[in-house]
Amino acid sequence: MPTKNQNLLNWAEETAALCKPDRVCWCDGSQQEYDNLLREMVDAGMAIPLNREKRPGCYLFRSHPSDVARVENRTFVASKNREDAGPTCNWIDPDELKATMTVLYDGCMKGRTMYVIPFSMGPIGSPISKIGVEITDSPYVVVNMKIMTRIGTAVLDALGDGEFVKCLHSVGKPLEPGEKDVSWPCAPSIDQKYISHFPEERMIWSYGSGYGGNALLGKKCFALRIAGVQARDEGWLAEHMLILKITDPDGKSAYVCGALPSFCGKTNLAMVVPALPGWKAETIGDDISWMKFGEDGRLYAINPEAGFFGVVPGTSMKSNPNAMKTIEKNTIFTNVGLTDDGDVWWEGCGTPAPAHLIDWEGNDWTPGCGRTAAHANARFTAPACECPSIAPEWEDPAGVPVSAILIGGRRGTAIPLVNESLDWCHGVFLGSIMGSETTAAAIGLAAGVRRDPFAMLPFTGYHIGDYLRHWLDIGKKTDASKLPGIYFVNWFRKDENDKFIWPGFGENSRVLKWILERVSGTGKAIQTPIGNLPAPGAIDASGLDVSEGDMAGLLKFDKEAWREEIASIKENYKSYGGRLPEELGEELAKLENSLK
Ligand code: OXD
Ligand code: MN
Repeated sequence: MPTKNQNLLNWAEETAALCKPDRVCWCDGSQQEYDNLLREMVDAGMAIPLNREKRPGCYLFRSHPSDVARVENRTFVASKNREDAGPTCNWIDPDELKATMTVLYDGCMKGRTMYVIPFSMGPIGSPISKIGVEITDSPYVVVNMKIMTRIGTAVLDALGDGEFVKCLHSVGKPLEPGEKDVSWPCAPSIDQKYISHFPEERMIWSYGSGYGGNALLGKKCFALRIAGVQARDEGWLAEHMLILKITDPDGKSAYVCGALPSFCGKTNLAMVVPALPGWKAETIGDDISWMKFGEDGRLYAINPEAGFFGVVPGTSMKSNPNAMKTIEKNTIFTNVGLTDDGDVWWEGCGTPAPAHLIDWEGNDWTPGCGRTAAHANARFTAPACECPSIAPEWEDPAGVPVSAILIGGRRGTAIPLVNESLDWCHGVFLGSIMGSETTAAAIGLAAGVRRDPFAMLPFTGYHIGDYLRHWLDIGKKTDASKLPGIYFVNWFRKDENDKFIWPGFGENSRVLKWILERVSGTGKAIQTPIGNLPAPGAIDASGLDVSEGDMAGLLKFDKEAWREEIASIKENYKSYGGRLPEELGEELAKLENSLK
């Protein structure tokens, strides 16, 4: 056995006894293991190797059409008390859920291999990192976990006989003796899928899905939902945020974190190429930020992940050249189109559709056939170290000091291009009222704007009101001057013809410039009831193709629209019951009064 950790050995043995796999494999995390698994999956018809000249080291997987995204309505937070899960998490009594899932797990790995994957979220051995072990029957999960986290023997060595988060996963498709496997095994119906969290036990049980955040348990399940509970108890923040390093033309660098809901261009911003001459941006992380106080009283962020699990459609040399270069090699593609020359193609990639390809469902596809070649939530899994914009310090175990936190969503009206919060409490208020159009990354959602506090709505492992209380408490742990400023951004404001006003992408660097000027005390702003807005001319518009009128529109404090916002915020706040922090109710009342 590669470990003496008795707790782990016992758990692996009990799990094998319950799930009844044909064999057990302890993953060592080596390149050879990765290559062998991919070879086996290619031989079994589960993976397609891409053209070696065009995409060296790349593979294509096609999921089952019923298993294409996170399933929020099948994601559960099984805290001991129902009230602790709050209005935004699906709650089931933990004993009841365990009983139901134990029946499902019984024999669920028959005919398969059970893989034990020790993984570290964050650099192995860093005091900020945390260790988990995922037990899974999916070799697809193993190869994705190798890219997305640090896995294998080195993690077991760092773990010693210490604590770890138990993450159990099964695709939920046992094989009868002699039964031929399918290319994407999963439980046949949505009701059989369970993505379950036991926050008090720091434990995750996932069953029935092999896709993304449902199955790669280090990501949303551990690094956000379970780590969020650990962060609350230990006084730090586990957030759904990118981490970006920005360097001005004088060589002065600063780090910002950014909370944007799925499908709002978070990966694009994390890899942005500034349009402003002389400015440089580098990537630390594109999805998750763990922030802890340093000895100097500032918040330091690490990216707990080691790879990117990015949305493919819409990724192009215009929207994200760094991602395009990252996925040229050593990348796993899921649910994109396969061209006749063994390359991949997707909608919005910037090159014309080929005359023929095989679509994500494995069918012949021609332009204009009425179907998309790639699924809207097709993904790439790529190592962070392949990204040309990765910052040299992206794995610094001490983290990077955070100067500003961006929050934002996809909003056609009301929310200006950028708005600085007046203080930490006001920033938390703005974070609590963030909203965005619904996302295709999760199925089973109604269309429209949903309030998504700090882009964490699907990712909190406890009551959303307590989560906001924790944010307020964090603000009391240090001097106000040491806290990052909180900035509400919206790249998606539309004109009366429903057209986006702001060009976005590299031009967002103009907004970042103003934010950093505000942080250093030089940026000009005017105070309004919703916060500090850039003064006329304060956003560098040199060489920008946006009229003065449009610029004014983007930065307008629209009193009428905010009156409507208030009504909808009140409605949302009602669902928090008695757990809405008083300070947030007061912020809302202040804002309402100022609009009278
Ligand atoms: C993601 C998401 O996959 O937020 O990162 O949905
Ligand atoms: Mn995300």
